[in-house]
Amino acid sequence: MTGARVMVVGAAGQLGSHVVRRFAGQEVVPVTRRELDITSHEEVMGAVARVRPDVIVNCAAFNDVDGAEDAPLAALDANAFAVRSLARAAEDRGAVLVHYSTDFVFDGSAVDPYREEDAPSPRSVYAASKLLGEWLALDAPGAFVLRVESLFGCPRTWQGRRGTLDSLVAGMEAGRELRVFTDRVVSPSYLPDVADATWHLLASRAAPGLYHCVNGGRASWQQVAAEAARQLGLTPTLVPVRTDDVPMKAARPRFCALDGHKLAAAGFAMPSWQDALGRWLASRDRPAA
Ligand SMILES: NC(=O)c1ccc[n+]([C@@H]2O[C@H](COP(=O)([O-])OP(=O)(O)OC[C@H]3O[C@@H](n4cnc5c(N)ncnc54)[C@H](OP(=O)(O)O)[C@@H]3O)[C@@H](O)[C@H]2O)c1
Repeated sequence: MTGARVMVVGAAGQLGSHVVRRFAGQEVVPVTRRELDITSHEEVMGAVARVRPDVIVNCAAFNDVDGAEDAPLAALDANAFAVRSLARAAEDRGAVLVHYSTDFVFDGSAVDPYREEDAPSPRSVYAASKLLGEWLALDAPGAFVLRVESLFGCPRTWQGRRGTLDSLVAGMEAGRELRVFTDRVVSPSYLPDVADATWHLLASRAAPGLYHCVNGGRASWQQVAAEAARQLGLTPTLVPVRTDDVPMKAARPRFCALDGHKLAAAGFAMPSWQDALGRWLASRDRPAA
């Protein structure tokens, strides 16, 4: 990895900004949507030819899960066909492609955390577009696909889109009543840990392929919220709700926990979600390194 030129696409997003920071010791080229629309094949090929990266980390995505039901082509464009362009550009250049996917590729009917070899069964347009993106990314020789879940851990000053856990914490600090799912089981992914895992896989020359990249353990959203409140010393009003009580356009898997053993076997054991939550809550007011 020493001296590698790392092109980070989607660099202004939650994960993109963390990856840019993590790879700061390398020659990092952050590329935001304003500079590159990944749904244009020509723009992708041109940008990669100009930047001449050794590694392309794709953090861009169409993440509006409900919106994708009404805009399937936009979701497919950004989450699948654009990934095909990035994979082709990476292959032409001889660069390693790193791409991120989601727990939503599963239908949520499992009772134990999903492993990489479990059969996907997407239940929404977003989920199907991300699954297709995985397959197209893995067409590039040496590519990595990291499935992440419920990303959390933005700084307090973050102006962009916030995930569920960040929103829950902001809500409890603002004294709002919070509805929490009792029947959705998750294993959230702490943004700095995902960036570290990405670094590790590349730096250690791990076997390419698909990896589940979530913090250890699993819990319902109600349990996650209760733990956040405990660590913050707050007593928020948590209103338990079930998935069926909350109408949503796109179907969501109820059991989303992923199994991180493959990543651990590759030398990067993700700490527990409680540990990650504690590190985040302790670091939110520190200026970005
Ligand atoms: N957030 C989660 O909880 C979660 C869960 C599972 C998987 N993931 C996956 O993790 C990865 C990172 O997600 P994230 O939460 O960091 O996403 P994010 O904060 O929404 O950032 C995505 C970035 O991609 C950009 N983008 C969208 N369409 C683009 C296009 N056509 N061309 C170039 N850039 C484009 C967005 O720009 P604009 O803001 O200007 O649109 C945004 O800066 C994605 O692959 C996502 O699917 C996320």
